[in-house]
Amino acid sequence: MMTLVTGAAGQLGSAFVAALAPAREVVGLARADLDLTDAPAVLARIDALRPGLIVNCAAYNEVDAAETQPLTTLAVNAIAVLTLARAAAEAGAALVHFSTDFVFDGLTSQPYTEDDPPNPQSFYAASKLLGEWLARDAPRHYVLRVESLFGGPRRRSSVDTIVDHLLAGREAPVFVDRTVSPSFVDDVVEATLALVERRAPSGVYHCVNSGHTTWQGLAETAARLLGVEPRLKPVRAADMSFAASRPFYCALSNRHLAEAGVAMPSWEDALGRYLAKRDLR
Ligand SMILES: NC(=O)c1ccc[n+]([C@@H]2O[C@H](COP(=O)([O-])OP(=O)(O)OC[C@H]3O[C@@H](n4cnc5c(N)ncnc54)[C@H](OP(=O)(O)O)[C@@H]3O)[C@@H](O)[C@H]2O)c1
Repeated sequence: MMTLVTGAAGQLGSAFVAALAPAREVVGLARADLDLTDAPAVLARIDALRPGLIVNCAAYNEVDAAETQPLTTLAVNAIAVLTLARAAAEAGAALVHFSTDFVFDGLTSQPYTEDDPPNPQSFYAASKLLGEWLARDAPRHYVLRVESLFGGPRRRSSVDTIVDHLLAGREAPVFVDRTVSPSFVDDVVEATLALVERRAPSGVYHCVNSGHTTWQGLAETAARLLGVEPRLKPVRAADMSFAASRPFYCALSNRHLAEAGVAMPSWEDALGRYLAKRDLR
């Protein structure tokens, strides 16, 4: 079975291609290869490739800019997903699509399950929720909500920014009032493929490392694992002025993934594994 990865130059997309390439047939397409907002081109390319699995890692992720770029945001995060879902249906392929914790309002103190009602608070978040709904046009679809991704080959994540500060002995600014369940791309890739291989039911799955922490908690753990002094500058997200509103409490529970028999390691374990191999990347 051939796997098509779209958004293949991004943090998660490149991890998928790297993980699949040694053993399986995979085609990774970056934006320069295939613009997903060009529906006729997408339908024609997928018809020609006939993948068994489409993994869509493309997204417009500029959360603040999305507030003033509604058409681009909708075109990539929603309409392109509909195109991919229709192409998947035509090709008889399963569709994996990624969404976000931002679909929730963050006004809670318990990890969100897949059954909790979304309440997006920004244009980006609303576009991602719309993409979740449109993915359902593929008869076999998996919508995986991830958050605070880290571990991609290009080190572009918030975790990498914190680690870079810690290693350089610079004070790292960290949010004390945002609670997250970080997601190591290696674990997301493995769990996604396990879900597909088990032929789990279509639907929405949270796919984060288990447990949760604040960014301050994550930075303290990173400093301990790296054996460096935790020089941190606590910052309150509530005191910042962002164009787009962000949820404060966004721990996610992987309930549906666990019910499908797929376990996610803890975020501490994931962070340790990432830091141990980071210098090799
Ligand atoms: N990063 C996070 O912390 C996070 C949190 C929650 C959810 N997610 C979700 O997880 C998924 C993967 O995120 P990521 O961090 O890997 O994203 P990323 O690094 O920003 O990669 C997204 C990729 O999509 C590509 N893209 C954008 N517009 C496109 C278009 N019109 N046609 C084709 N490709 C296009 C981008 O290409 P260019 O490089 O050319 O722009 C980029 O390579 C996304 O669905 C995202 O919303 C991410």
